[in-house]
Amino acid sequence: SSLQMFVDELPQMPKVFGFSMRHRSPVPAHLTIGMFQKKWKFHRDLPPATVFAYGKSKKTATVPGPTIETLQGVPTYVTWQNHLPQRHILPWDPTVPTAIPNNGGVPAVVHLHGGVHEPQSDGSAFAWFTSNFNETGPAWSKPTYTYPNVQHSGNLWYHDHALGLTRANLLAGLIGAYVIRDPKLDAKLNLPSGPEFDRHLFVFDRSFATDGSLYMNHTGNNPSIHPQWQPEYYGDAIVVNGKAWPFLKVQRRKYRFRIINASNARYFRFSLSNRLAFVQVGSDSSYLPSPVRTQNIFLSPSEIADVVIDFSISTTNEAILTNDAPYPYPIGSPVDDLCGNIMKFVIEPGSPSQPDRSKIPATLVKYQPARTAGAAKRRYIVMHEYSSNAGTPTHLYINGKRLEDPATETPKSGTTEVWEVINLTPDNHPLHLHLAMFQAVKVQELVNLDAFKACMTTKNDAVACNVKAHATGKLVKIPENERTWKNAVKIEPGYKTTIVVKFNLVETGAPYPFDATAQPGFVYHCHILDHEDNAMIRPLMLVK
Ligand code: C2O
Ligand code: CU
Repeated sequence: SSLQMFVDELPQMPKVFGFSMRHRSPVPAHLTIGMFQKKWKFHRDLPPATVFAYGKSKKTATVPGPTIETLQGVPTYVTWQNHLPQRHILPWDPTVPTAIPNNGGVPAVVHLHGGVHEPQSDGSAFAWFTSNFNETGPAWSKPTYTYPNVQHSGNLWYHDHALGLTRANLLAGLIGAYVIRDPKLDAKLNLPSGPEFDRHLFVFDRSFATDGSLYMNHTGNNPSIHPQWQPEYYGDAIVVNGKAWPFLKVQRRKYRFRIINASNARYFRFSLSNRLAFVQVGSDSSYLPSPVRTQNIFLSPSEIADVVIDFSISTTNEAILTNDAPYPYPIGSPVDDLCGNIMKFVIEPGSPSQPDRSKIPATLVKYQPARTAGAAKRRYIVMHEYSSNAGTPTHLYINGKRLEDPATETPKSGTTEVWEVINLTPDNHPLHLHLAMFQAVKVQELVNLDAFKACMTTKNDAVACNVKAHATGKLVKIPENERTWKNAVKIEPGYKTTIVVKFNLVETGAPYPFDATAQPGFVYHCHILDHEDNAMIRPLMLVK
C-alpha cells in the first residue's frame, strides 16, 4: 500500500441514547437499529468501499456503527433490523458450520459483547435472520432484544454473530460501541469527560483492493477441505473509527480513550512514539481497582482498554500510536511499518482552551474478589488445532467437540466456577464467554507438553492425562492491568490458565435478575473470528 498516513481526521461515531428523560429521571428507550449496505470512504485517496453498516437509517449508518449510550439500571430495548442485500460482499465458506438461507440474503444477528442479559436477547449464532426476517435460524425467537443494564458501568460493544459468518460480517463493518454509565460514579471518579475528551478508538486491520473495496482472500489455506476458510485474516492497513491511519488534534490536557480491538485476528501491543505513558483505568467492561501506569497496552481481538493519556506533559508536538505485536501472536511475523503505525496525535501548543479539572483518582472500583476457594465446580477447557496431512490447519475445536454437540458446560446460575484452560495449539487465543465475567488468577507452563498432547489426542481427557503432573512449569505473572473482571482473556500456548468464572453479578455477587437458564442458552468461544467460525465455539447452557 502506498496510502499516505495521518491525512484523515479521526471521526467520532454518532451517539444514540438507550434511555430518555422524563421529569428529569431516566426511563427506558426503544431503539431501532438497522444493518445497511452502503459506501464508506476509508481513506482520502481510496475510492469508497461497499460496506455493511449499523445505523438508524442508511444515510446515518457508519463503520463502526453508532455508540449506544445507556445508564446503569435503565433497560434499553433494541429492534435490530436486517436491510442487507441478497448477496454478501465478501467470500464465505459453506463447508464450515454456517447459516445458509434457502432464498438468499445475508444472515445476521447481533450480540452485545460483555452484556449481562437473558439468552433470548444474546444474539445466538443460531438466531440469525435475513432481510425483513424473511428467513430465521432455528434459535430465532423475537425481533426486539432487552438489555437490562443491570451490570456495573463500563465498556461493551455490539457486533454480528451469525453462524459461520461472523468473520465476514464483522469484516464488512458490523461493529459498534455500547457504554453503560453510572453518573454518580463518573462524578466521583472525575476522569476526563464529555464528547471531546472521552472518546472511543475502534481499531482494526483491513486490506483494500486498488478500487477501494474491502479485500478478503477467496481461496482457503486448505481448499480441498475448506474452499475459502483461512485460519487468520490479517489486513495490511490499520483503521481507527472507520479511517485508515487517522490523526487527532489534541490539547495539552488529559484525554480518556476507550480502545477496542475489533480485528478478526490481529493482536495489538500499543505504545506512544514519544514515550508518553498510558494510565489504564479499565479493562474490558470493568474498572481496575486502581490506575495502572504503563508504556504498553496489549489487546487481543475483542479486548478493551480504558486509558487516560496526559498530553500536558508531552515534550513533543506529536505522538504516534504504534503497534509491535507479531502476527499470529506470539510465533508469527514481526509487524511491518504499515501495521506498526496506528494513528497520530497532533499535540497543539499552548495551554488548553479550558482548564483541565479532571483527575486520575488513586483508587477506582472494587468488585467481588476472584477466589478459587468455594467454587461450585472445576472444569477443563482444552484448545486443539487439527491439521490435514499437509500440516496446514483445517479446523480448531474446544475439548475436541463441535458446536452442535450437546452442551457440556452447564453451570448452575448464580454460582462461581474455576475453569482450567489448556492451550495445546501454537497460537494465543482470546477466550470469550457470553454472560459471565471472569479473570485469570494463575498461568502455569505445561511440562512434557508432547507427551501430554499425545495423551490428549487419544483420550481427550485432561484429568486422565494427568494434567496435574504436567502443569508444574514456570508461572507467568498476570499483568496488573488485566486483574479485574473481564470478557476476554488471552490464553498462552503451552500453558494452563486458571480462570475464576462468575455466573452472577460481579459487583454484588447477587444472582442474575432474569432467567439465565432459558433456551437457547449462551456460547463461549475463541474471539479470533476465523477460529470461532471453524469452530472454536461451544454452547454454555446455564441450569437452575
Ligand atoms: Cu464478541 Cu461471542 O462475541
Ligand atoms: Cu483462537
